[in-house]
Amino acid sequence: MRKTLRFLAATVLAATFASSSALAGTRERQSLEAGWLFHLGDVVPPLAKGHGMSYGGAKAGNAGGAAATDYDDSGWRRLDLPHDWGVEGPFDPSENASQGYRPRGIGWYRRYFNAPPSDRGRHVELQLDAVATHSQVWVNGIVVNRNWSGYNGRNIDITPYLRYGEDVNVIAVRVDADAQEGWWYEGAGIYRHSWLVKRDAVHIATDGVHADPVRKGDRWILPVTVAVESSAKAAHRAELEVTVLDPAGRQVAKARTPVQVGALDASTARLELTMSKPTLWTLQRPALYRVSSVLRDESGELDRADVQTGFRTVRFDADRGFFLNDEPIKLQGVAIHQDHAGVGVAVPESIWAFRLRQLKAMGVNAVRFAHNAPAAEVLDLADRLGLLVMDENRNFNPSPDYLQQLTWLVRRDRNHPSVILWSIFNEEPLQSSEVGYEMARRMVAAVKKLDTSRPVTAAMHDGLFGDVNVTQAVDVAGLNYQAWAYDRFHQAHPTQPMTSTEDTSAYMTRGAFESDRERHVLDSYDDEPSDWGATHRKAWRAIAERPFVAGGFVWTGIDYRGEPTPFEWPSASSFFGAMDLCAFPKSAFWIHQAHWVKDRLVLKVLPHWNWAGREGRPIRVMVATNAPRVRLLLDGRQVAQGDVDPIDMVTFQVPYAPGRLEAVALRDGAELGRDVVATSGAAARLVLAPDRGTLAGDGLDAVPVTVSAVDAQGRPVPTANLPVHFELQGPGAIIGVGNGDPNSHEAEKGSERRLFNGLAQVIVQARRAGQGGLTLRATSPGLQESVVVLDVQAAVPPAAVPVAEPFTKIGGWRISPPQVDRPDPGTAPSYGDMNTWGWGEPPMKQGPEAPPWRVYRASFSVRADRNDGRGHLVFREIAGRAEVWCEGVKLGEKTDPAPGPLTLQLPQGPAWRTLSVLVQSQPGHDSGVVGRVVLEAAGK
Ligand code: GAL
Repeated sequence: MRKTLRFLAATVLAATFASSSALAGTRERQSLEAGWLFHLGDVVPPLAKGHGMSYGGAKAGNAGGAAATDYDDSGWRRLDLPHDWGVEGPFDPSENASQGYRPRGIGWYRRYFNAPPSDRGRHVELQLDAVATHSQVWVNGIVVNRNWSGYNGRNIDITPYLRYGEDVNVIAVRVDADAQEGWWYEGAGIYRHSWLVKRDAVHIATDGVHADPVRKGDRWILPVTVAVESSAKAAHRAELEVTVLDPAGRQVAKARTPVQVGALDASTARLELTMSKPTLWTLQRPALYRVSSVLRDESGELDRADVQTGFRTVRFDADRGFFLNDEPIKLQGVAIHQDHAGVGVAVPESIWAFRLRQLKAMGVNAVRFAHNAPAAEVLDLADRLGLLVMDENRNFNPSPDYLQQLTWLVRRDRNHPSVILWSIFNEEPLQSSEVGYEMARRMVAAVKKLDTSRPVTAAMHDGLFGDVNVTQAVDVAGLNYQAWAYDRFHQAHPTQPMTSTEDTSAYMTRGAFESDRERHVLDSYDDEPSDWGATHRKAWRAIAERPFVAGGFVWTGIDYRGEPTPFEWPSASSFFGAMDLCAFPKSAFWIHQAHWVKDRLVLKVLPHWNWAGREGRPIRVMVATNAPRVRLLLDGRQVAQGDVDPIDMVTFQVPYAPGRLEAVALRDGAELGRDVVATSGAAARLVLAPDRGTLAGDGLDAVPVTVSAVDAQGRPVPTANLPVHFELQGPGAIIGVGNGDPNSHEAEKGSERRLFNGLAQVIVQARRAGQGGLTLRATSPGLQESVVVLDVQAAVPPAAVPVAEPFTKIGGWRISPPQVDRPDPGTAPSYGDMNTWGWGEPPMKQGPEAPPWRVYRASFSVRADRNDGRGHLVFREIAGRAEVWCEGVKLGEKTDPAPGPLTLQLPQGPAWRTLSVLVQSQPGHDSGVVGRVVLEAAGK
């Protein structure tokens, strides 16, 4: 039933929405990524000295240095976001091993944009999805945000600071990447997406929709709360309509409610929808529903926000572990950091999709984004792919600034069906103390205020049995490397669910099958555990054998830069991954695949079969398979056979002879399938294998291309370590190269990369509005080249904020009291006088009173790219006669007293100048600097 809306008096509405109703329903989310200016290094403004500078610098809008509106950034580098400058830098042994020996430092970004006059009255929000690590943001010289986490989004209301029309707005961001929050590579810069979101003054708040289905017996209820905010000038009534669309886009539920929101206030609308028999969200079939919230008044649609959700239940049981939709599911999890080869932490969504697909192929069903919030689009992917997520907060601290980081995470992520568990911390020394317990209790309470449907955990690495410890404050006990305590904890706390939140930490170098500690190489037979961890197989056995342990999270699914354990320089990235930095599988990938994949045959014979010089000597052969028995054939001749332990797999010693080594998987004597490794000859030809053959020409889509070498017979050469050069032609660019060698110091940007144990990766990205063939060519001396053509297909790129050029408007004018006689052009307010001379911005118009003369003074800086003697000083309108002086030199005059423009050439000179404009009024007429004063580049 449609509820009748009761609107406030029409006059109030009309006044409130006079300017915005024409724009009703035009929420715009524009990408703010092209055309930023970047400076590596800090820009320290001069220390304020003297009264004028101190007084002026203390005022809103007058930020100094590179935050200043008129800062000269003409020499800065132009680039597009997302950007990680860390990965562009060299490897340096004096830098921090934990951060991958990459210099971090401080950097500045600036971006110019216009706000059209039609934006006046709307609400404009600047969204920076993540900046590594500490950042401050200014808009038009006003500081608008400070954030002390490299993993949290900043949603900044910039409405009040905007200038509309010809005036250019400037955003300045200072990024301090010397600040570290982690012991892994964290990147540096504005490395996730950036947006400008324009909405009606009365709008749905960012992350303001909460729609998380609840099963009630046989029925499903969808409680929806929607936070509505207003920057309007008067209270407003509107109506909120929520519709639910099923995975096929059919409307399946609808409800409405009136909303009232005060001026500059917020309110929450609550609705409840009932659903019968929705399609459940499962790991095999992750059905997603769209919840669409529309805010309307009688003028039409004000705003609209869509979120996706899924119908599923989650439950942790103390005896039987995790249940999804009442089905027990062991968490076959991995922990991962967020960097990828070639691109650092600025990982395109399509590369994330590739990483998550690789994990899914490995049999992973749960991901822990360690130890921080992932990008929003990564959780969308997890929803779509059917992956469970342990969503982790970075900083353990319930003080207001930090608690806000946690509540931001929960508000942003609480609609995702993939998210099953909140984690408030990882391995905190205070975990077994009264202080730690009290801190945790407050953080858990903050989560529960926002979401009661998911349990909270904390990843503890000790202190489980302390008198007061954090397991007492959370729902699910989280254990990092505490396999020894699984049984004891369960016995001591038989009603508390538990999971391994981190385990394994074993080392492998991809494609290497002999450890050589001198060369920082560790073999891939899963026999190199860390001192605190266990092999992949041992760690999984401890979990698999205990139904009360909900599951585990292997450290790690994919390698990451930094923490190059157990080595240091020259090793620069980790050895822990089941895949390398490019997400190329290591042996652990196949071992876990054999553990976890149940619905198809997994069979992988290891190692490669290129052991020239080892003829007749035994080579250790491991077969990773979920088949019960395996037979090995060398050139068709049986050399070994044996039963497979479902966790340890099976290993043999096979005397080496070049040829074809084949593993035959068997069940009850019947063959299930075969896998082969063959001895190759010398590399003869390169092979490029793109993950996909097409790309969307939207400026975002990126494809990883695997580079390998084959011999004259087309057999892969797994030992090739050859230099490869890449060339790309067409509508795209190479955005990074890698090869997964943790000891490599080769550049990750550019067009060269060596194969490492037979493989390298080149990542290509389509250009915005690109279309047509993208030709990638790989060459290596003495080898036949490889060429692949990718098809860039026309796509609608996301709406983007046009790039504006800097615009020097001369502002901050002082206006002398009126004088009878022509003043000296050097006339200035006396030291410390903040009151006798007026303050102003054009239009500065004086009435026709006597006496007739006034001086208008302003200081300004001239950008280097306008200080060539050809720039123009343009007075759009001066009323009265006028003389214009600059630094004791007369630049020109206006002899006609009638209001009109004046354009003068600005001679080359110092960057900082002071203008004096002597204006003489005409009896009976207004006078003054009426129009704006701007500095235009030559040729404008
Ligand atoms: C854990 C920690 C991880 C990583 C790992 C290496 O203690 O939580 O971040 O450092 O050790 O084994």
